[in-house]
Amino acid sequence: MINIAVFISGRGSNFTAISENIKKGVIKNGRISVVFSNNPDALGLEYARENGIEVIVLPSKGVSNREEYDREIIRLLEPFKIDLICLAGYMRIVTMELVNKYNNRIMNIHPSLLPSFKGLHAQKQALEYGVKVSGCTVHFVDGGMDTGPIILQKSVEVKDDDSEDSLSSRILSEEHKLYSRAVDLFCNGLIEIEGRKVAVIGAGNE
Ligand code: GRF
Repeated sequence: MINIAVFISGRGSNFTAISENIKKGVIKNGRISVVFSNNPDALGLEYARENGIEVIVLPSKGVSNREEYDREIIRLLEPFKIDLICLAGYMRIVTMELVNKYNNRIMNIHPSLLPSFKGLHAQKQALEYGVKVSGCTVHFVDGGMDTGPIILQKSVEVKDDDSEDSLSSRILSEEHKLYSRAVDLFCNGLIEIEGRKVAVIGAGNE
């Protein structure tokens, strides 16, 4: 059984989707052992508490030493024997302290087809650029911002009359499915990484 830590800062809908998909058996061989938040007011913490999922909150407001902060996270996670960290709307850049400790075991979801539209407000960036297709990406986390090896991507059509909200919500429903699929693949040992390339074992035979 793979022990998962989900990191959130806000709404936590990807966290909730992963948790529900574990309950439904869509994700096999994984369990959410703990939810970590840098924001004590993160909405997603309510779901965690209602569902008896262990919560760690380490407020990051005013914390300037990111390395020290991440070393504290590592200490706090130690008892949970975490195999996989899922960043899900976690609004802090993780340092090499965490990346090296959990090498190729930290995933993130981003609401664009990377490497396009990295960083904040990816859906707004896509609309302003005028692309016809955007989407979402699940990738491993390296030292950069939204730069790590890509695991899965899903495209979403951009419509002429899309607003930032309408596009974001269509992308979000795909995020929930895509992230759960990536977590399921990881939990079942079906992901191979070589440099920047991630292969899904058996995917060629589908
Ligand atoms: C999602 O759009 C995700 O791609 C981005 O932040 C948002 C988090 O939403 N990284 P939620 O907290 O999972 O609802």
